[in-house]
Amino acid sequence: MRISVIGCGYLGAVHAACMASLGHQVIGLDVDEAKVASLNSGVPPFYEPGFAELLDEQLAGGRLEFTTDPGRIAQAQIHFIAVGTPQLAGRYAADLSYVRAAVQTLIENVDTSKGPAVIAGKSTVPVGTARHIQDLCDESGNDLIVVWNPEFLREGFAVTDTVHPDRIVYGLPDDQDRAEVGRKLLDECYAELLATGIPRLLTNHPTAELVKVAANSFLATKISFINAMAQLCDATGGDVTQLAEAIGYDDRIGKKFLRAGVGFGGGCLPKDIRAFMARAGELGVDEALTFLREVDAINLRQRDKAVEMASNLLGGRFVGHKVAVLGAAFKPNSDDLRDSPALEVAQQIWSRGADLVITDPAAADALRSKLPNLNVVGTVAEAVAGADVVLLLTEWQEYRDLDPVELRAMVRTPNIIDGRNVLDPQRWLDAGWTYRGMGRLAGPAAARAQV
Ligand code: UGA
Repeated sequence: MRISVIGCGYLGAVHAACMASLGHQVIGLDVDEAKVASLNSGVPPFYEPGFAELLDEQLAGGRLEFTTDPGRIAQAQIHFIAVGTPQLAGRYAADLSYVRAAVQTLIENVDTSKGPAVIAGKSTVPVGTARHIQDLCDESGNDLIVVWNPEFLREGFAVTDTVHPDRIVYGLPDDQDRAEVGRKLLDECYAELLATGIPRLLTNHPTAELVKVAANSFLATKISFINAMAQLCDATGGDVTQLAEAIGYDDRIGKKFLRAGVGFGGGCLPKDIRAFMARAGELGVDEALTFLREVDAINLRQRDKAVEMASNLLGGRFVGHKVAVLGAAFKPNSDDLRDSPALEVAQQIWSRGADLVITDPAAADALRSKLPNLNVVGTVAEAVAGADVVLLLTEWQEYRDLDPVELRAMVRTPNIIDGRNVLDPQRWLDAGWTYRGMGRLAGPAAARAQV
């Protein structure tokens, strides 16, 4: 099939390459010339494991191309919208200007003289957007059928999640005939995936839009729930890792997304729950989502908590102390700094006068250009040299594997804050460190709890 993808960020670029790998002829459209040039030369403009190889392979195969010229998408049968919907400055609501621009581009450029084309929405949008887009298309007279087809990929696993999704959702238009055309075209596009038995759910526009924000809200709620339990553990001498393990054996609860720490960040969960609350307010059902305010507040408190822990270890004063932060990206295997808990903790400590040094295996360059005032270094050894406290805030494997004995010889004062609860407290205590986890016991109390 001939396919276009509008917006070539983490979502769009990966989706375009994956669709090409399914045998389709794909053109990715973006307004950013540097990004398009980079993708066309096989250099991903962001860090995503496995993507560089896939991009190379598909460019070489001749089925994938990126362009800034909207005229090039005219003949495609399916047009995926994969542009960003960031939080509006100073508000909770999502910024839909990129979606509007994409729709306008499609209305003006897609040629439906030989038959209808499908707009498949992948971006996360406020419920009601798909119907509105369908209305705009209908008013334009261009025969475009809108299907909302939310994306559930995780950064760091984007390629795998796109070609092995756990479900595929089509939000179809109300008109039965058009819904049928839309379904058929998308079934053809995803035929190879559907043949493997991946569940495909057919629903209407609002349900499909809600599925996406409901999923992200649920995940955010799970994380804040366990972080609230971490606060209770801190107050009572409990251990949240053991608590999570114990409740996780109940498969109604499950073990995933119950890792306490400095909380969730990134370009999706935080802004999605806020946009969802804003939309509920517009719809007059804000009370239904009041709990998400608390989910957000618990999450942000974890960041403050890490700062306070560091302050306490330094006798209440950051001035005159060296602080090493390991990790800047919002999660490992990503260079994404958007709403990163690690970065916010680092910035708070820096603004309180510490001599702060930060490092990250993938995000260091992005960090240098985003925040030139921060002291960004390339290695753990440089970061921790002479430090009075070390904070592990993004759980990269190389940080999980750190040797406490080796590190002990590099720092000035052996204080470690394990902001992701991924270290073995006993190993660090044995090497002479003062260990602080998030809602986690260390030392003799932990040993008693193990019994
Ligand atoms: C999230 C969802 O997981 C995807 O399903 C969704 O498609 C995507 O948003 C999106 O809307 O595009 P992502 O933002 O890549 O994916 O990251 P996650 O893996 O969900 O992690 C989010 C944050 O939660 C990270 O900061 C991570 O460190 C944190 N987290 C995760 C915890 O603090 N504890 C956990 O137990 C799990």
